[in-house]
Amino acid sequence: MPETFYVTTPIYYVNDVPHIGHAYTTVAADVLARYYRLAGRDVHFLTGTDEHGQKIAQAAARQNLQPIQLADRVVEDFRSLWQRLDISNDDFIRTTETRHEQQLAAIMSKLVEQGNIYSGHYEGWYSVTEEQFVSETEAVENDYKCAMSGTPLQRVKEENYFFRLSKFQDRLLAYLDEHRDFVKPAARFNEVYSRVKEGLRDLAISRPSLEWGIRMPNDPSHTIYVWVDALCNYITGLNYTDQQDAWRYWPADVQLIGKDILWFHAVIWPCLLMALDVELPRCVFAHGWWTHNGQRMSKSLGNFVDPSGYLDRFGPDAFRYFLLREVPFGRDGDFSDESFLRRYNSELANDLGNLLSRTVNMIERYCDGRVPQPGGSTAQEDSLQTVGRQLAGRVDSAFVDCKFHTALESILALATEANRYIDSTKPFALAKQTDPASRERLRTVLYHCGESVRLLGVFLTPFMPGSMSRLFEQLCWDQLERMPLSQSGQWSVLPAGTPVRQGPPLFPRTDRK
Ligand code: MSP
Repeated sequence: MPETFYVTTPIYYVNDVPHIGHAYTTVAADVLARYYRLAGRDVHFLTGTDEHGQKIAQAAARQNLQPIQLADRVVEDFRSLWQRLDISNDDFIRTTETRHEQQLAAIMSKLVEQGNIYSGHYEGWYSVTEEQFVSETEAVENDYKCAMSGTPLQRVKEENYFFRLSKFQDRLLAYLDEHRDFVKPAARFNEVYSRVKEGLRDLAISRPSLEWGIRMPNDPSHTIYVWVDALCNYITGLNYTDQQDAWRYWPADVQLIGKDILWFHAVIWPCLLMALDVELPRCVFAHGWWTHNGQRMSKSLGNFVDPSGYLDRFGPDAFRYFLLREVPFGRDGDFSDESFLRRYNSELANDLGNLLSRTVNMIERYCDGRVPQPGGSTAQEDSLQTVGRQLAGRVDSAFVDCKFHTALESILALATEANRYIDSTKPFALAKQTDPASRERLRTVLYHCGESVRLLGVFLTPFMPGSMSRLFEQLCWDQLERMPLSQSGQWSVLPAGTPVRQGPPLFPRTDRK
C-alpha cells in the first residue's frame, strides 16, 4: 500500500466571489498534491466552501436571497475558478451537504455526552466579518471595530453552549513542546505557543439567535458556531463517523491556511480533536497575505486581484507560477502587473520557453529530429549534470517545508545552467563542422540539452501541469505518468532516439502592459 498524503485548504466563505487570496492557498495545495502523486503517494486533496453563519445570512439578505441560494450561486464561482486554475482536488465539501451536517451533529453529541460542552452565558463583542468573539480589551484597542476588516463590532448578550477549551490547555502545550513542526513556519509556532501559554478561555460554540446553521443536537433552538462547523469539514470530508475507506488519509499531512486564521486551526482545532480522541494533523502551515500595488486589498477599496484577467490572457500556469515564485511561502508579498510581467518574460518566456525552443529546433535541424546518442563528457557536461543530479534532493527537501519558491529557484537554476551551457558549447557553430569529433561533440551537447529540458518538465509539472504536458509533446517523452518520481527525476533518463516536434512557444513573450 502506498503511503498516503492528505492536504487541505480552508473552506471558503460564500459571501463573496473568489479572489487571489483564495487562489493562493488552493494553488499551493494543488502543487503539493500533484508533487506527491508524482512521487507515488496515495494523495487526497480536499477543498470546499463554508456556507453557514451570520456573515453569509447577512450577505444573502442584502441581495434578497435565501442563504442557500447565495451559496448555490457562489459555490459555482469557486468551482469554475478551480477548474480554470487546473486544480486537481479529489473532493469538494460544502458545509450544507447532508454528509457534513449529519456527521457534525454526531460530533457535537459526542462532545456533549463527554461533558465537554456546558451551557453558559456570553456577554461581549462579536465580529460578523470574522465570525469571531472578541475580548473587551481587543474591542477597546480597536475602537470597537473588527481588527481585520474595520467593520463595527456587534454587542451580543446571549445564552450559549461552551466548549471546555481551557481544559485542554496543558495537553496542547505539551503537544506543542513535542511537535515543533505542528505549526509552520517557526515564527507562527512561537506565536501560537506564547498565546496558549497566556491561557485559554472556554469557547462559545453555539448561537441561539441565528437561524442559518446546523442545529445543536441537544438543543435545536441553537445553531452550531460556524467555526466549529467549518473546522470539522477536514474530518467529515473523510467520513469520520464510519471511519471506512477515506479515513485512511487521516491525520492530514498538511493543512494550509492564511495567517489570519491560525488561532482557529492551531488552537481550537487541535483541542476539538483531542476531545474527540482523534490524532492531530501533522502540520498546519500558515502562509502570508498579498497586497496589491502595495495596498491592502479590501472591499471598500475594491482592489482585489481578480485572477480571471490573468487567466484569460496567460492561461493558468503563469499565474500559478507567479504566486509561488514571487514570495517565500509564509511571508507577505505584493502583487503588481509589473512584477508579474517581469517574471513572465524573464523566467518563463526567456529562460524556460527559449531553452525548449532552441533545443527542439537544434535537434530537428542537426539530428534529424531525434535526440542523439551522447558521446564522452567534458567538464562542461559534468557541471550541468551536477545541477541536474542534485535537483531531485533539493526539490524534495523544499517540498517537505512547503518552500515552493526554493524549489522553483533550484529548478530554474537548471534552466539557467542549460542556457549557459548552450552559450558556451555553441552547438550552432559545431553544426557547421563536418569532422567526426565535432559531430560527436554536437550529439553530446544536444543530448544534454534534451535531458535538461526533460528534467525541468518533470519538476515543473506540479506547478505548471498544462504547459509541461505541452513541453512533453514537443519532446516526445510520455513516461511521466508511468514512472515514479524517484526514477523520472534522475539524470540520463531520456532515451536517445526520442523524436522531437517543434510546437508553438510555451510562454509567448509579451510587451503589452
Ligand atoms: N471560512 C473561513 C475558513 C474556514 S476553514 C475551516 C475563511 N474563509 S475566507 O474565505 O474568508 O478566507 C479563506 C482564506 O483566504 C484564508 O486562509 C485567508 O488567509 C485567505 N486570504 C484572504 N485574503 C488574503 C490575502 N489578501 N492574501 C492571502 N490570503 C488571503 O476564513
